[in-house]
Amino acid sequence: MTETFSTEIPAGQPALKVIGLKVYYHISQGIVKAVDDIDFTVGCGEFVGLSGESGCGKTTTAMTLLQILPKEGVVEGGQAIVGNTDILTLGKKDMEAFRWKGISMVFQGAMNSLNPVHRVIDQMVDAILIHEDMSKKEAREIALELIESVGIEKSRARAYPHELSGGMKQRLMIALSLVLHPPLVIADEPTTALDVMIQAQILDLFNQLREKTSLSLLIITHDLSVLAETCDKVIIMYAGKIVEEAPVQILFNEPAHPYTRKLIASFPSILADKEIEFIPGNPPDLIDPPIGCNFHPRCDYAIDKCRTEDPPLVDEGGHRVACFRRHEI
Ligand SMILES: Nc1ncnc2c1ncn2[C@@H]1O[C@H](COP(=O)(O)OP(=O)(O)O)[C@@H](O)[C@H]1O
Ligand SMILES: [Mg+2]
Repeated sequence: MTETFSTEIPAGQPALKVIGLKVYYHISQGIVKAVDDIDFTVGCGEFVGLSGESGCGKTTTAMTLLQILPKEGVVEGGQAIVGNTDILTLGKKDMEAFRWKGISMVFQGAMNSLNPVHRVIDQMVDAILIHEDMSKKEAREIALELIESVGIEKSRARAYPHELSGGMKQRLMIALSLVLHPPLVIADEPTTALDVMIQAQILDLFNQLREKTSLSLLIITHDLSVLAETCDKVIIMYAGKIVEEAPVQILFNEPAHPYTRKLIASFPSILADKEIEFIPGNPPDLIDPPIGCNFHPRCDYAIDKCRTEDPPLVDEGGHRVACFRRHEI
């Protein structure tokens, strides 16, 4: 295979650097500004959470990085650098090779994408052999190790998918995403729709991977408790833009953007005896977003400036916030 890219991350560089990314959907009703100029990095070995209400652009971001946008989705600008390559410029063939090896993915309900008529081990061996030039026996050994590494006994490898529990299947999908040792995995809602016990197993697995491997993970979820348990750093999106980013402790203890504060306050907690607040109103129509700050129509702190100017995302010591009133509220 003649590949025009490398999946190696040079020392000292982040696993992923997204710069000025804009992705719009061109549909008959107009242009949906789903992702509107976002910048972020995922450091090597870092677990980064991407969160925000439904419709804020999380999945669009993930699909863009993997080049699996539907045809109405257009990358209008920006770069996504992995190693020395802007992966948004890779052609179809290169991207096919890059997926799994450079970046791999785990999607919501991914476990249902295991083929029901093939044994689990055979599916993993096939996935390895598509990308790697090795014998079936070698591929089998790698697959068995991975199966064990996600907490499943090797003896279960010959099972068919229906013989395994939902949690085992989702763990296998995670194992499959790791098969070629990609430096970066993107997981979009990997625990959503799983029951709490299975969810706990998956989070436990991510935490083990964090300790045992050099994996970098971009974990996308609207579930703040998942982020609190797994991430080093959290990015909050609102209506296609990043409104806040901070190390996980700071984000939860000292959220600075009015939207982040509302988001945290609206999240139920079984430990704290707190009132759940709702965020009044709805996210804006992304075909015709508001002038000024996207959040101003729902913000208790909005002033005139917020209605006319778009607040820049300002970095103060690793805590990025897009709010003119950051220091007043
Ligand atoms: N294929 C599409 N065509 C038009 N609009 C879309 C399409 N997919 C998503 N959108 C819109 O793009 C915005 C972002 O969606 P999405 O990335 O799925 O958000 P999230 O994953 O945060 O819920 C939403 O307003 C959504 O309605
Ligand atoms: Mg989504």
